[in-house]
Amino acid sequence: MGNGIAHVFAMSGFTVRLVETGSQLADKALATIDKNLSRMVEKGKISEDEKDASLKRISTDTNLADGVNKADLVIEAIPEIFDLKKKVFATIDEHAPDHAILASNTSSISITKLAECTKRPGQFIGMHFFNPVPVMKLVEVINGMKTESNVTKRILDLSDKLGKVAVPANDSPGFVSNRVLMPMINEAIFCVYEGVAKPEDIDSIMTLGMAHPMGPLRLADFIGLDVCLDILDVLYEGFKDPKYRPCPLLVKMVDAGMLGDKTGEGFFSY
Ligand code: 3HC
Repeated sequence: MGNGIAHVFAMSGFTVRLVETGSQLADKALATIDKNLSRMVEKGKISEDEKDASLKRISTDTNLADGVNKADLVIEAIPEIFDLKKKVFATIDEHAPDHAILASNTSSISITKLAECTKRPGQFIGMHFFNPVPVMKLVEVINGMKTESNVTKRILDLSDKLGKVAVPANDSPGFVSNRVLMPMINEAIFCVYEGVAKPEDIDSIMTLGMAHPMGPLRLADFIGLDVCLDILDVLYEGFKDPKYRPCPLLVKMVDAGMLGDKTGEGFFSY
């Protein structure tokens, strides 16, 4: 998600500092952006010059404090672990300029709770992008309880400049997108678990019968089974409602390191 977000900002003319935990990961992110920009050149969507200019707007850093110290906007896109986000936002809050807006690309964690990890909850907002970020039009914009209205307005205007459509949602577990999407994915996994149908058949039913571009199990692999489990856990804990109980098969696959595309093995092989 992080490299996709950097990609769309750079393509829209913004200077981007991409912060990773190590130089190898930073190089990998740049290589992915290069590959995805080349794909857009091949499709005739942008010129070779536009690709080069976009890449030049992105620099990388492996030190978070240095990486954010000149930012006007910081977008966090790290794993869905609250304690990790809390630690990272404390560093960002300490080193980002006072005027900077802090945003989280969290899929499900409360924006109000994340905002309180900083001394600027009024300048904190949810900016939820969708994978693949250069392709998907939506940005789900989530206000925390203390988000100031001028901050929301600036993020809505900014989303427009990125060529995205910003749609507001209130701060509630999973917001709208993942509250609706994850139970569908979880139910598809229960269908595998209970032997209702084979994974490829479940996906065919949903692509051919419901016109979904990807079946729910292919999509779960694409999102990452660990991410799906993290989101379902947030829904389950947040609502205390058993309807969000993650399927035991999902838990087992994550325990086995079968995370989908990123490990080469999930409901399908890659
Ligand atoms: N960067 C740039 N362009 C890309 C790209 C990328 N990473 N990936 C695909 N594309 C472009 C292709 O160049 C192609 O462009 P074209 O239409 O101009 O030819 C177009 O996207 C379609 O790509 P492909 O032809 O290679 O493949 P498909 O037609 O199979 O489409 C897909 C791929 C766009 C991923 C499509 O299958 C899809 O829309 N899937 C559903 C994705 C989805 O639901 N995402 C949301 C996940 S939930 C989430 O992210 C939230 C989180 O909180 C969990």
